[in-house]
Order: sequence, then structure tokens, then C-alpha cells
Amino acid sequence: MADFDLVVRGGTVVTGIDTMRADIGIRAGRIAAIADSLDGPAVLDAGGLLVMPGGVDTHCHIEQLRQGGTTDEETWESGSRSCLAGGTTSVVTFSMQFKGGGILEPLAEYRRRAKQAMVDYSFHQIITDPTDDVVWKEIPRIVSEGVRSLKVFLTYDPLHLDDRQFLRVLAAARRNGAFVTVHCENYAAINWRTEALLADGRTAPKYHSWARPRVVEREATHRAIALAELVDQPIQVFHVSCAEVAEEIAAAQRRGLKVWAETCPQYFVLTAADMDRPGFEGAKFMCSPAPRDAADHAGMWDMVRRGVIDVVSSDHSGWCYDSPRGKRMNGAEANFRDIPNGVPGLAARLPIMFSEGVSKGRIDVTEFVRLTATNPAKLFGLYPRKGSIAVGADADLVLWDATKRVTLTNALMQQAIDYTPFEGMEVTGWPVATVRRGEVAMRDGRVQAEPGSGQFLPRGPYPAAQPRGVLADGFDASRFA
Ligand code: URP
Ligand code: ZN
Ligand code: ZN
Repeated sequence: MADFDLVVRGGTVVTGIDTMRADIGIRAGRIAAIADSLDGPAVLDAGGLLVMPGGVDTHCHIEQLRQGGTTDEETWESGSRSCLAGGTTSVVTFSMQFKGGGILEPLAEYRRRAKQAMVDYSFHQIITDPTDDVVWKEIPRIVSEGVRSLKVFLTYDPLHLDDRQFLRVLAAARRNGAFVTVHCENYAAINWRTEALLADGRTAPKYHSWARPRVVEREATHRAIALAELVDQPIQVFHVSCAEVAEEIAAAQRRGLKVWAETCPQYFVLTAADMDRPGFEGAKFMCSPAPRDAADHAGMWDMVRRGVIDVVSSDHSGWCYDSPRGKRMNGAEANFRDIPNGVPGLAARLPIMFSEGVSKGRIDVTEFVRLTATNPAKLFGLYPRKGSIAVGADADLVLWDATKRVTLTNALMQQAIDYTPFEGMEVTGWPVATVRRGEVAMRDGRVQAEPGSGQFLPRGPYPAAQPRGVLADGFDASRFA
């Protein structure tokens, strides 16, 4: 008898390609065998359940450092708990650069905090100030340490980059074999509309979406793609909100550019009307880009089925509703410009996408696995260690009851954030156990991992991050500027 530490027995194994009835033998945290029938001293019964790769959430904000020394209200411990409760075993979060400072110090502090994690983790480095030191010395250093993706904002004060600064980041990424992720909205256009709305007395949360209509996102997406093409640098456009924007990415993909699109559950189930709830309640649904309309949800599913959008992350944000560090940081009467953006969703991501996608017949279960685990792992250099069920891969699994009906509540999210924008939503399909590197880390909603048991995931060179080698006039400007 083979010597396994744990056998997951009797389930239907789902990968990004196949579905099969098989047992999984785990040894030393890795998958050692996948076969018809396996035996071992410890067995996890998966009878009647799907066995899928643990979720990989490549866009979530956990205990992110804020200007002035505070942090997001979701800590590594609470955020990990929420991940495991929802079937996610790996995350890529964010280290922030503060304007006027470098990236090494905040990254060191962020890595220190992440030592409390219970899920495996890596980081995107946010660049807000691409000085000579940052682009020529510090980015090469962090890439050599395994932090192989950069994040830029084309909007938000004080984070946004202008086109010239964005080009510098793209060029630095190309020189170092790093990947770039982009928040695409037009900074000047949003400010212009915001000032006009406030001058007209339109201050309520619902005007958040009036300030940033689809065209503002579409323009920035088009521009980001054009500049990435100029530099010949692969990018992923973050949190695409509607088909109108995704069409820009589809056009780029048709031309062979290495441009990918991510979206989030909120763009399939929330609408701008949610921000029009009484009083301050609309603040719970404020995120950027803004949720669109019900008709846009169908367009988003089309984009998923066409393969234009191939990753669904949570964009989990660490702002409580009822807290002076959260949505009310500027008071409950704050105008929409002064309410922080972002919604929580670490634990809700898989149940919502399974229910809306698989249970409602919009996608099959292998597509669900690709969207939530395999594709993000590939795009960010974590594959095949993460995002797959294969011999040699980390034994990160979620055991899933495809028929269980659940009404989402914030208590089920097991997060530090005091609300979920998905409260009351009915889902079909629920995680009943999460296995992280061979350890049963959640069972029937009870998280049993230890803080500090998560591991940093250093990322080396990988295919998606490699440039195409197609440059205007054959001239590689990124070598010089
Ligand atoms: O509104 C959002 N998305 N907040 C989180 C930060 C970001 O833009 O990704
Ligand atoms: Zn963003
Ligand atoms: Zn985000």
C-alpha cells in the first residue's frame, strides 16, 4: 500500500479540462497519486462531492498599508479565515508604494505582516511614483525576490500615473520579465464630472456611478492597451465591468496582443441601483469601476464564454461599513467623492460564480475551475504548483456540494469586514471542506488552520509575462527609458 498522509476518497475530481471519478493520494503536502481507488490511514470522504483545485484569488486587498501608518481592517488572519471558509487557498495581494517613498520598505513591512497568513500568498507591487531609483534599482530587486507583478492605477488621487509614468512602469516590467496589472479609468474625466456633480448638489452614493460611466473605463482601457503594445509588455486589465469595455480587450486579443481581462462577482450580480439605497446604505456597494445595469450582466457572461474574460477575482477591499476607519471615515454625510471605494468578497467569490455560472447553466464546471483557479495561477506564475489537480501539484483542494442551497450572510463570510454586499443572496453550491497543502484547513465552515501556516510564493519567469518581441521599427525603447 502506498504511504499517503491523506486520501480524498470517492469524489468527482474536476480540473480546468476534465471531470473524473477518482481518489487523490496526498503525501508531504503534494498530490502523489490520482487513481481509481486509493487507501491510506487518514481518509477524507468526498462521496457525492466535487473535488476542485483550491481557489486562487489574484486580486484582493488584505491588511494593505495605508498612508499614515494604518492598515485595511481585514487582517491577514481574518482574511485568510474568510478565504478558507470560501474555498480559496492562494492569494495575490498588494504592497503599496507611497508617493515620495520607495518600494522596498513597504514591501518588507507587508511581508512581515503576511507571516500571519493561513493561505499561501504572493504580492503585486503597486507603483505610484516611478522614480529613477524605483524603476532602475528597486523593481529589479523585488523581481529577483519573487515579486513578479506590478500594479498601476490610471485614476484615484494620489495613486494615479500619467501616460509617461505608466510607460516607465511598463518599460521596467519588460526589462525585468515582470507582469503588469492596470486599473483602467480616466482620471481627468472622473474629476471633471465629479466636480460638476458636487457643484449641482448631487452628493449621494449613487452619483459615484454617474461620475465614472462606461466610456471613462473604455477610454482608459483602450489607452492602456495601446501603451502596452508600444512597449511590448503583457498586461491584465483589472475588474472589467461591462462588455463595452471587454470589447476593447477582445479587439487587442484578436490582434495577438498579450492582453488579458479580469472581472469580479460584483459585476455579475450588483447594479448601479444598489448604490441608490436609502441614507448611507448605498456606500456598501461603491466600488470602481461602478457596478453597471442588469443588462450588462448578460454581456459579461458572453465575454466569459467567448474567453475574452478569463479570470474572476474578488477585489476584496478592507473597508467596514460602520467604522471610522471604513466607509464612514469622512462621516455618514460624506459626499460620494469622500467615501472609500471597494467591496468585500473573499468568501463569496466561489459560491457566487458557481451558483450564477454552473448551477444556472451558463458555464460548465471545468470553466468555473479555469476562471477561479487555473487561469489566475497561469497568468501570475503560480501554475502548475497552484490551480491544478495533478501529480506533483500542491494538494490545495476544495470539496464542493453542488446541490447545497445557502442564503449568504455576513456571518458566513467569516471576515473582519462588518457587511457583505451580497447579503440575502441565494446560492446553489457551497464549499464543505478546504484542503491547503494536504492539511484539512476548513471543514463544515470551521476553519482549523494556524496563523502563520501560509507560505510566501516566490514567482520566477513564466510564459504569460514574456513580451512578444514585436516592437515599432524594431526599436526597444525600454532599454533606455
Ligand atoms: O473600488 C475598488 N475597486 N477598490 C479597490 C481598489 C481597486 O481599485 O482595485
Ligand atoms: Zn482597481
Ligand atoms: Zn483592487
